[in-house]
Formats: sequence, C-alpha cells, structure tokens
Amino acid sequence: HTVDSTNVDPFRPVYHHTPLYGWMNDANGLVYKDGEYHLFYQYNPYGSMWGNMHWGHSVSQDLIHWEPFPIALERDTLGQIFSGSSVVDKDNTAGFGPGAIIAFYTSASDKNGQIQCMAYSTDNARTFTKYEKNPILTPFDGLKDFRDPKVFWYEPQKKWVMIVSADKEMRFYSSTNLKDWTYMSAFGAGYGAQPNQFECPDMVELPVDGDENNKKWALLVNINPGCLFGGSATEYFIGDFDGNKFTCDTKPEVAKWLDWGKDHYATVCFSNTGDRVIAVPWMSNWQYANIVPTSQFRSANALPRELSMFTEGNEIYVAANPVKEVENIRQEAQQLPDFEVKDTYAIDTLLADNQGAYEMCFTLQPNAADISGFKLKNSKGEEVNIYLDQKAGKVVMDRTQSGIVEFGGQSTMHQKETENLAAKNAINYIDNFALATWAPTKKSSNHQFRIFVDKCSVELFVDGGKIAMTNLVFPNEPYNSVEFYNDKGSSTIKDMHIYELKL
Ligand code: FRU
Repeated sequence: HTVDSTNVDPFRPVYHHTPLYGWMNDANGLVYKDGEYHLFYQYNPYGSMWGNMHWGHSVSQDLIHWEPFPIALERDTLGQIFSGSSVVDKDNTAGFGPGAIIAFYTSASDKNGQIQCMAYSTDNARTFTKYEKNPILTPFDGLKDFRDPKVFWYEPQKKWVMIVSADKEMRFYSSTNLKDWTYMSAFGAGYGAQPNQFECPDMVELPVDGDENNKKWALLVNINPGCLFGGSATEYFIGDFDGNKFTCDTKPEVAKWLDWGKDHYATVCFSNTGDRVIAVPWMSNWQYANIVPTSQFRSANALPRELSMFTEGNEIYVAANPVKEVENIRQEAQQLPDFEVKDTYAIDTLLADNQGAYEMCFTLQPNAADISGFKLKNSKGEEVNIYLDQKAGKVVMDRTQSGIVEFGGQSTMHQKETENLAAKNAINYIDNFALATWAPTKKSSNHQFRIFVDKCSVELFVDGGKIAMTNLVFPNEPYNSVEFYNDKGSSTIKDMHIYELKL
C-alpha cells in the first residue's frame, strides 16, 4: 500500500527519525549489517495512537538519514507484534542460512498471552519469514507480562543468551540454535526505582574508563512507572555476567538513570556494531505519548547515542553521547567570541532563517555564581530554561513555559480513543508535562554543554554525555534567541558554536 507522506505536521522533527504516518513507540530489533543500520519500531500503520502493533522499518547508512522501508512484521493470528531484538546469525546456528538476520519479538494476544517468537530474513531484512514452529518460548508460570526478548551472543561459552522482561524481574535463557531455550536465572526483583514494571531489557559489555582490561556489564532496563519525574524512563545496573547469571555491583535500592529527562524510553542497542555500543531511545513518555500535540505522526526517536562507562567516586556510570555521525549534518558554524555574563547576556538571533533545528555548544564557567544558565526563547514569550545550580548540585531543564503544555484535544484518526484517553489523562496532562527535570552534578570550575534542538525536542548533553537529558517541547514558533543569566558575580561562556542542522 502507499502512504501519502507529505508532511502536514508543524512539529515533525527535521533530523530525528519519525514514521511518515501513524504511531511509533519502542525501537525494535536494532541491527547493523553490510553497511546498513536497521531500525524497526513498534508501529501502528492505521493511526497515530497506540494499537495494532506491527514492526515498522527504516534503514540508514549513517544513523541520521533514515529511509522508510515497508512494514517488516505484520500482526498475525498469534497476536500483535510487540518489542524485541535482532541478531546476525553468522555461523548459521539456526539453520536459516549463514548471515541470516533473525528477529525475536513478543506475540501478544488475549488468547495466548505474551509469547516469544522469531522470524528470519536471508535478504538483509527486505523480507522476513516467521518461523513455522512459533512460539519459541512461553512463560513457565503463566506470567502475564513476559515480553521484549533481547538476544545476544555470549562468546566465552559460545551460546546465545535471551533476556525477557518478566514483570518485576528479568529472566535469562540460553540456546545454541536460537530455537530451543533453557531457563538460567532471574534478576531484578526489588532492584532499582520503585514502583516499576520492567520492559525492553538490554545488556552490553563496556570498558570502564576506556580500559579494555577492565570491562563491566550494564543491564539496561526500561521501567514504567518509576521515572523520577513521573511515568516511564530508562535505568541501568552495573555488574558482572558469568554466562548464566547477572550479579549487580550495587545495593538493590540504587537506581542509575541513562537519561535525566522525561522523554527517553524503551532504549535498546544495536547488535553487530563491533566495539561501538549505540542506543536508540523512543522520545516520549507513556503518561502522555498518545495525546501530545502532533497528529499525522506520534512520536520520534531521540538521537542515537554512543554509550561508554566512567567512574566517579567508587561508582561506575554509563555516559550517553550523541553518535559522532550527527556532526555530518552541521551547516556552517557560527563561532562567538568568549563572553562574560553579568546578570544577563542576550544573543538576539540564533539563526537567520530558523527552522527550529540546530545545535549549540559551549563551555560554561560558573565562577562565583550559584545559578548560571540560559533561556531558549521565541517571540511569543515561550522559553526553555536550562541552568546549573552549584549550591544544589544540579543541572535543570525547565519546560513549564516552553509552549503548548496543556492538553488541546487534538483530533486524530482515532477520535473516540482520543476522547477516552483524554478523559483519563488530560486532567493530569499539564501536571505531567509542565515541569522541570534535573540531574545531579558535581561542583566543577567548568562544564561542557551541548544542546540539540529540533521542532519538538531539546536534548542536553553535559560533559560528554555524563548527563543526558531529553525533553519534548511544543513551541508555537522556533526558539531563536538565547539569554544567558546568573544570580551573582559573573559567569563565563567560552567556545560557543551554533550550527543549523539539516539533512
Ligand atoms: C514498552 C512496551 C513494551 C511492549 C511495547 C508494546 O514501551 O510497553 O514492553 O512490547 O511497548 O507496544
């Protein structure tokens, strides 16, 4: 079938991935092969609210320019096609052919519950065939929430591992042929932010502080609810994996966040990318994802991020920095001479023809100021206020006055569902949306700030991704000026660059 992809949505991002039409949630089955990144995603092709889940498909050679592909997996008699992962079966362990791309997903239906299935492609994901003996895994205890299989190769024991989110824990299975799976262990009960329900797990091994001889595992998992600011968010646990069992380094109550914004969810990583670990977030929050003010499409992915591990004190953390490929879409740089901010310092025009898609980076020296920050503004009095609070030890992004922050009753293909949802959620929409998010930060003489603005989002990266903060915003006009400010003394802004971003 054909889709009229003429953009009619003023909030459609310029350089973030979106479906041409319809609803998208989680990134699924992320896999790299033969120069192509495959981004599958939870997709409703029939309207811009959740339902009728398929796997949509887009392909990119650089993680930034995405080409829409036909639907990869359509819902079938086993149910809707929920989230999952893909692998490249180099050694033909499953017998579908060497180098087959094999996708693992959850079939979800009232009749069968949530069961794990697979499909394979021998033509680099142009077409998939569902395995005739699906399902390959059902819950041994009839658990209702049992989904989002993540499969990866565990080289030391030459076997495949599958992690399935199983309500308040994650279950680990192993296999040598990708078809027969044996239960090994579970992790997660009582761990991390509460209350929670685990969804979309992933697990990656990374060198700590770049030391190849000291690697750790990060078990990434998405929880809903449990976000510090309400709704859904991504946390992670650092620990060890012996091929059988994950052991966490920290006490159960410790929650570490991959992103400190409100719109970062269902984040999982590409397989088959060698030493690079590249994660792709879904840029929304289940509290309001279905009723944000777009209509031709809902929603976008945040920028793909490269993950790394660093230590601070005695703790190991994961940093998330935009992939370097995003620099390829920078237009001509505007470099500003360094300046002092006493009270305020305004840059009246960021870009001559501002389409609402740009990157800004600089070094902020707070000097004696407790609070030093900047406001992205438009001529309608809307603003996003980002600041460092040295006393409180926080970086804050405040979107209370960012534009549309109230539910507007936007109509969609699913007017009735919109109204039902509106009745359920709209009352809370303003409370859930009009707020500030924050991340803890250590006192330092300077911080590197990098801000990515697109039509309906602001992504902030501080100190090379040690803090990532992703928030949706719906301004009635692009923010085209910036006002720096501080509470006392003078702060210093150095090496400031502004780039228009364009595909
Ligand atoms: C996470 C999630 C998954 C599920 C999918 C359904 O956002 O709830 O657990 O597989 O979305 O669309």
